[in-house]
Amino acid sequence: MGHLEIGVLASGRGSNFQSIIDAVERGYLQVSLRVLVTDNPAAFAIDRAKNHGIEHLVMRPKEFASREEYFERIAAELKRRGVDLVVLAGFMRIVGKPLIDAFRHRIMNIHPALLPSFPGLHGQRQALDYGVKISGCTVHFVDEGMDTGPVIIQAAVPVRDDDTEDSLSARILGFEHKIYPEAIRLFSEGRLNVAGRRVLVKGADIEETGLTHPPAGL
Ligand code: GAR
Repeated sequence: MGHLEIGVLASGRGSNFQSIIDAVERGYLQVSLRVLVTDNPAAFAIDRAKNHGIEHLVMRPKEFASREEYFERIAAELKRRGVDLVVLAGFMRIVGKPLIDAFRHRIMNIHPALLPSFPGLHGQRQALDYGVKISGCTVHFVDEGMDTGPVIIQAAVPVRDDDTEDSLSARILGFEHKIYPEAIRLFSEGRLNVAGRRVLVKGADIEETGLTHPPAGL
């Protein structure tokens, strides 16, 4: 696969966006971060884009006639810039069909739980409330559902008795910052094949599948 052009969609803090920027800058990822699209003019992700010379677009749904049109326009802006892969990094909206259709199996999302457990908002709080002993994070391709698309990589993170939502979120986030660049790298190397619900990773050793991510130490 040639040099991959990436478009990032983010709504807030953008720490996952930063982990991808860092992975590019240290040469782990050989891709271009072409554009950041945000629905939130106050997103800290914008500062990160500016700091690293990445173009950003603020596109707010209320400026468009419909949700359909909003996602059509996002797709058009991404296409116009030659984007090959769309990376959702804390983009807090359900992606509309026009964008999914335009980038089928070329949109990734990260979610702070082991899907299909605890989809939607506050995955970390849901895990604590349910009382599971292991949670984690998931990178998956995006389909029409909410956090339902084929799973690319997961990392397991133990829940401690003294965890709060904040402490568990922080521990999970450390793993998010590791598996998201990893998933993008596999994509950029042409090593991900979607077969129904499964994503098969060409030449994967066990570490690349996330199975051996050590639970301790973060
Ligand atoms: C991350 O924990 C991400 O997994 C989560 O939002 C946070 C964004 O942080 N995403 C979702 O909950 C999506 N349903 P960031 O802006 O610092 O990357």
